[in-house]
Amino acid sequence: MKDKYSLLTAWYSSLVKLIFGEKLKESKLCLLEDTESKRVLIIGGGDGLDYREIAPDISGEYWELSSSMLKKAKENLKLSQLDFYLGNFKAGEKFDEVWLHFLLDTMPDEAIELLLEEIKLVLDTNGRIVFSDFFHPKSHRQQFLNQVMITFFRVVVGHHRNDLPEYEKLFFKRGFVKTDERLFMEGWVKAQVWRSK
Ligand SMILES: C[S@@+](CC[C@H](N)C(=O)[O-])C[C@H]1O[C@@H](n2cnc3c(N)ncnc32)[C@H](O)[C@@H]1O
Repeated sequence: MKDKYSLLTAWYSSLVKLIFGEKLKESKLCLLEDTESKRVLIIGGGDGLDYREIAPDISGEYWELSSSMLKKAKENLKLSQLDFYLGNFKAGEKFDEVWLHFLLDTMPDEAIELLLEEIKLVLDTNGRIVFSDFFHPKSHRQQFLNQVMITFFRVVVGHHRNDLPEYEKLFFKRGFVKTDERLFMEGWVKAQVWRSK
């Protein structure tokens, strides 16, 4: 499997911090609670750096498509009790929580729907999806940056999208309801909790 992120992995997190400071990290962590008592599924977690401080509390599975990102995640999260997998997530055991952080904006709508179907199979009845991602930009500056990022990822990583998904419609369509939300950068980034209806 070709590693589309191989050119980017070494400086991905530094670049994100340079542009957004700690905002994206905050959006990933702000809705987590009682992580140590849960079995967690992390899909597309990248290099895992933003979870490093809470690594001892995390157990479950970590799925990544990029071998270079996965290698870094194993190092960053060596204090966790996660099992690491390279490739597309395949439904197996049950989880209390699924973390989808800045993953869905890289995927076509059909792939998002298929992933949500797979997640439904493994999410415990009272389980949560903890999601954060870029939504529609709120200012000209954000619009500009958003377009630069989309173009950058199309060219460097080969993403197919040239827009942002209508995440909420896709979650609703696949039978989830939103139960919590926090906004960052005037709502350009949102952290949300979704549960099965
Ligand atoms: C934009 S990066 C975000 C990484 C990380 N979640 C973060 O917030 O910094 C998207 C990551 O998702 C991974 N990815 C994309 N599609 C995937 C899939 N279907 N299954 C697992 N990982 C995937 C990519 O390899 C990449 O590391």
